[in-house]
Order: sequence, then structure tokens, then C-alpha cells
Amino acid sequence: MSSLNGKKIVLGITGSIAAYKSCLIIRQLIKKGAEVQVVITPAGKEFITPITLSALTHKPVISEFFSQRDGTWNSHVDIGLWADAMLIAPATASTIGKMANGIADNMLITTYLSMKAPVFVAPAMDLDMYAHPSTQKNLQTLISYGNHIIEPGTGFLASELIGKGRMEEPENIVSQLEDFFDIPNRDLEGKTILITSGPTYEKIDPVRFIGNYSSGKMGFALAEECARRGAQVELVCGPVSIKPVKERPNIHRIDVESAQQMYEACKEIYPSADAGILCAAVADFTPDTVAEQKIKRTGDDMIIRLKPNPDIAASLGQIKKDGQLLVGFALETNDEESNAQGKLKRKNFDFIVLNSLRDKGAGFRTDTNKITIITEGGKDEYPLKSKAEVAADIIDKLQSLF
Ligand code: PMT
Repeated sequence: MSSLNGKKIVLGITGSIAAYKSCLIIRQLIKKGAEVQVVITPAGKEFITPITLSALTHKPVISEFFSQRDGTWNSHVDIGLWADAMLIAPATASTIGKMANGIADNMLITTYLSMKAPVFVAPAMDLDMYAHPSTQKNLQTLISYGNHIIEPGTGFLASELIGKGRMEEPENIVSQLEDFFDIPNRDLEGKTILITSGPTYEKIDPVRFIGNYSSGKMGFALAEECARRGAQVELVCGPVSIKPVKERPNIHRIDVESAQQMYEACKEIYPSADAGILCAAVADFTPDTVAEQKIKRTGDDMIIRLKPNPDIAASLGQIKKDGQLLVGFALETNDEESNAQGKLKRKNFDFIVLNSLRDKGAGFRTDTNKITIITEGGKDEYPLKSKAEVAADIIDKLQSLF
């Protein structure tokens, strides 16, 4: 579950061309279970309509002190007390200047001044305005007030002011808020966990290989979850192009290409690890010989003779000691459960995570997965979830066995 679940967020929107991106911010916050109250400046309304925003948040948008002509008024003090966080995105140079200097001439600034919760500011302006000493001074002032400045690609800004003025992407803004509220349990502190991830490439010649569709997403999500819970992660990674969600000092990545290289890395690491989670899609076969030069087209047919690769899982299963855990994956296309049961026993896993290519949204490359955790004594089926949530389910299970 996201750390934003149940959180009350005041979203301040100001007059920038990036205002349309606030719709994406709202959608993501709501998807993660947050409640959103929009407060918009008069200039903000020139860029995006309150109707769109209230349809997304299911709440009236606040922009004026007086909501109607009947004397009822919007209390910025109440909003300040209601919120768990205030996010101003996009924040123009003008709003940043007013915030820094307490110029309370609109509802957004009065709300800011009354805010009891942490404030996040995502600046949006052109580079010259952003680089102007006045803007820089105002941003420094906001930092000195304890506000969090969200810069494009640079995360929270402490003392260094670098960035380009363009507003950070909505998903990164939301993920920084999520990180802020995240109170990870540290139940895996002191444990070392080996994780394999991604595909392997088996060389045919200098330009060709046999590979598979694994993106590394599932393995990275597992590494991220273990690291979040305090474990030291040894991530043995086949060739992938994705980037980790977050650089973490307790994830040590070892890049390999072939199954043989993955095998050697795992054999070295597993004896001193507390658990191994083997999520990589390892090629079972590799070309018998690798051509030194690029193979040229000759006749019609081309035969590549393959020899078996080491079975990493089975060999770790053999050297597994008491107290050590080993978790496998099974990617199946048919007879799913009986195939997974067979691998569970043959490879001496403590449990196996079954995913089937017959399930939509499961398996290779997707951001979601649908799994069944199978142990010798039973099975637990889970619905389709994000790979991050699936990883949390798998690590909950692993933790219960330590
Ligand atoms: O990377 P993504 O795009 O996010 O996709 C995730 C995934 C689909 C790759 C992942 O969820 C998954 O199912 N990984 C295992 C894929 C697989 O190759 O399964 P398998 O049934 O062939 O192998 C069974 C187990 O033995 C696996 O734990 C595998 O890592 C391991 N194995 C297999 C062969 C081999 N030579 N050595 C091994 O260690």
C-alpha cells in the first residue's frame, strides 16, 4: 500500500503553462489513495479550468476567500489544519516570491502562510527567470523556512541550486511525496539477500545472441523492497535497460551477461547470504561454440548447436544450509501449478512464485504481475498488482520464514 494512502494533500496551482500537468499529479495522488483539495490562484485559472480539477478531485476548487455571495467563506486556517502536506505545483516565480515575502494577496498564499503541514514546491518557469538572483534568493528563503523544493531530476534541494526551471515530471513529484511519508519497516536489517534479475544473453557471434524478453522490472522491485526494509541486497543483473526507481546505498549491483557469468556470481555470493531470490529469466541453453567473426549468410539453413547452461537455482538449492532461504520463480505457459510444484522440489526452493503468460498483465516487461506463491504445503493466489506491490507480498512471505 502506498504511503500516500489516506493522506490529505492541498495542491496549490499557479499560472504556468505546466498547470495542465497538475491533472496528472491529481490522478496519481488519488490512485495512491490520497485526498486532494485544489487551491488555485486567479492566474492558474487562465491555464486550467476549475471544472476539470473538481471533476478529478471530487471536491470544489478553492480560489476565492468568499465562496458565494451569501457570506460563507473559505477558511485558509481550516485547510492548513486539515492537510497532511501542501504541494505547490506548478509554482511560478511570482508565487515563490510572494511565499518568501509573505505577500498574502490570494487564497493560495494565505493557505500557505497558515499551513501546519510540510510544504513542497515544484518551480516552473523559463531558465532566465529561474536563474535570476531574485528567484534564487526566494528559493533559498523557502528552504530556510523548511519547505522542500522539488527540482527537475535533482530531488530535494538542500543547498545546491541546480535545475533548469522546467517543472519536474508529475510521477517524480508524487514519488517524492511518497518517499517523504514512507516509514519503512527495518525488519530485514542485518540480512543479506541475493537477487537475480533480467535476462541472460548467450553469444552466437560478436553481433548476435540468444536472449529473452525479461526487462528486469520484477527483480528491481524485489531489490527495492528488500533494501527499503533494511537488507543488504546483492543484485546480480543480466543486461537490462531500465533504471532503478531510487539509488540506494544498500543495493550492490553486479552486472553480468551470460548464464555462466550469473552462475559464477551467485555461487560466490550465496554462501554468505541469508536468502536468495532467483527472479532472472536464465537461458537454459547456450551455443556450443561462439564464432569469432560475424557469421555470414551461406546456404538456406543455419544450425546452431546448443549445450545446457548450469542450473543456478538447482546448484544453490544443493548448497543451501540450515537457516538459509531460497526462493524461485516459475514462468509458465501451460500446466502452471504442476510445473511450478516440480521446480519447487527439484531446485529445493522454500517457496516458488508462479506467474503465467496466460494472465493478462503478468510476466515479462509489464509494470504489473499476477502471482501464486506455492509452498510444499499449499498456495496463495494474489490478484493483479503493480510489481512493487507484488514484491512486497513476496518479501512479506520471505520475512515470515526467517
Ligand atoms: O523482468 P520482467 O520483465 O519484470 O519479468 C519478470 C519475469 C517474468 C522474468 C519473472 O517474474 C520470472 O518469472 N522469472 C523467472 C523466469 C524463468 O526463467 O523461469 P523458469 O521457470 O525458466 O526457471 C525456474 C527458476 O529457476 C527461476 O527462479 C530461474 O531464475 C531459475 N533458473 C532457471 C534456469 C537456469 N539455468 N538457472 C536458474 O537459476
